[in-house]
Order: sequence, then structure tokens, then C-alpha cells
Amino acid sequence: MASRLPLKMVGDMPLIGYFADNWENVKNFQAEEGDLLIDTYPKSGTTWISEIVDLVLHDGETKTSQRGAIYERVPFLEFAIPGMPTGAEQLNEMKPPRFIKSHLPVHLLPESFWEKNCKIIYVARNPKDTLVSYYHFYRMAVVHPDPGTFDEFLHQFIKGTVSYGPWGAHNKDFWKIRHQRDILYLFYEDILEDPKREIRKVMKYIGKDLPEDVVEKIYKRTTFKAMKDNSMANYSTIPSSIMDQNISPFMRKGTCGDWKSHFTVAQNELFDEYYKKEMSDTDLTFRF
Ligand code: A3P
Repeated sequence: MASRLPLKMVGDMPLIGYFADNWENVKNFQAEEGDLLIDTYPKSGTTWISEIVDLVLHDGETKTSQRGAIYERVPFLEFAIPGMPTGAEQLNEMKPPRFIKSHLPVHLLPESFWEKNCKIIYVARNPKDTLVSYYHFYRMAVVHPDPGTFDEFLHQFIKGTVSYGPWGAHNKDFWKIRHQRDILYLFYEDILEDPKREIRKVMKYIGKDLPEDVVEKIYKRTTFKAMKDNSMANYSTIPSSIMDQNISPFMRKGTCGDWKSHFTVAQNELFDEYYKKEMSDTDLTFRF
């Protein structure tokens, strides 16, 4: 049974307490040539892109791609909760090439990912929707500290004191090195706008040439509705003592702009100031 531990620091980054306690195993994780990493700041569309990539890897074959829950098919590297196998343990039992999920920022990713030149797919999402999604996730996933009120959480997000630290640096650091390191950098809002275009980008990146009817099949299988109804994708197989979907479902809204129903005018002004400052040293931009 998990409980709301305070976050603990891993280097300069606050992290879920249980995950931080397992840090040595994460730091020393050996990525191998051919491993494929999905990296995101939390709540940016990790599960969505994981489902898409897994289907692409399996030629759209739902039978093979639905062989287990998303967190079994794509182990979460830094995952550690008492009584469950850790992400590193799961991965160490799999034969490379593996498909790995992480939320770690560039500077805390285990060295081996860089040494082995692993392909990395990064998904970024506008910070207002990310923040709203993260707030509801903190409420329902009890490994996080209590988020407090929305206003309190917004201030923590701006300060960068939420789990995985500052949103800005995370997104900008991957953006900076995307060409140097052969990173496919995607946006949640782009996938919403034209999912098939983004599925084709993924195919090109991982060297899969699939016919249009398969692209169509992958698209249909990864709509918000299809994934919300799919127990292999919607986290309903995680005990409610860890993720209480009665508080807030994992597949919550799946839209762009839900922040408008959460932010007050004052919060929006404060956030715009933060965003302007964060983005003053980058050409990375977001759609809201
Ligand atoms: P909301 O809370 O805004 O609904 P992650 O997988 O990184 O934790 O991100 C979760 C967010 O992605 C949630 O956002 C969830 O609803 C959204 N999401 C997951 N699958 C999706 C899909 N197929 N289409 C659109 N959004 C999706």
C-alpha cells in the first residue's frame, strides 16, 4: 500500500519519495543499443505516444500490441513502489531492444542512453494543460504529496518544486539537443490536430513503412475514446490504493485548452509572466 510521502531530492530534482529511494538502480541502469526511449515531462501524452509507438512496432496488430498493460509493455524506468517490481527490474528481465518510458530530464538520464545512442521520442505539451493534468494526477495517484488547492499547486509548478522539477528546463533541454542526438521531438497539440501525420513521423523515425490502412487502424486504436475504453491502456488494472480513478480518471479529458476552465484571470496573468520568462532564451513555442 502506497502513501503520500514527501518528495525527495535526486540531485537538483524533487522526485516521488519511493522513486528517489530506488535511485541507485536507475542511475546505474544499462541501456543497450537499439533500446527506444519515450521521455516526457509528466502529463504531456506519454501513454498516448507509447500506445502509438507500440502499435507501429507491431504493424498495427492489436493482438500482439495488447499483450499486456501499457506499463508492462513499456516499463517505466524510475518506477518503484513497495510490493511491486521496479521499472529497472522489469527492464533487466527483458531482452534488448526494449521500449522504455521515463520522465527524467536530460541531465539525470542514465549515461548509458547517450553512450549507446538510443533513439529518443520526446513529447511536449503546453504548460497550462500540463499543469491542470498534473494537478488532477497528484490528487488521484497517492504516491504524490497532497497537491493542496489548485492555486497552491500552480505556485509549486511555477517554482519547479513538483515531482520532476521545473517544466521549462525539461522541455528546453531536450529541444536544445534534438538535432545533435537524433531525438524525435513531438507536441501533444500536433498529435491532437493531425494524429495520422504524427503517426507517420513516428514510423519514419523508427524506420517502419506501413500501408495507409494500417495507419488508419493505429489511429482508430489510439483515439482518446478508444484508449479510455481499453483496459490495457487506461491504467484501470492498477489498484485503486495507488491510483484512485474515482477521484480523477487517468484518461481525464484529452483536450487542448481545458486550462481555461481552471485558471482565474489572476492566475493566468501570473502564469503568462512565468511562461514569458521561461521562454525568453529559446525558440521553442507552444500552442494553448
Ligand atoms: P488530461 O489529464 O488533460 O486529460 P501522460 O500519459 O503523460 O500521463 O499524460 C496523460 C494525459 O494525456 C491526460 O491528459 C490524458 O487524458 C491524455 N491522453 C492520454 N491518451 C490520450 C489520447 N489518446 N488522446 C488525447 N489525450 C490523451
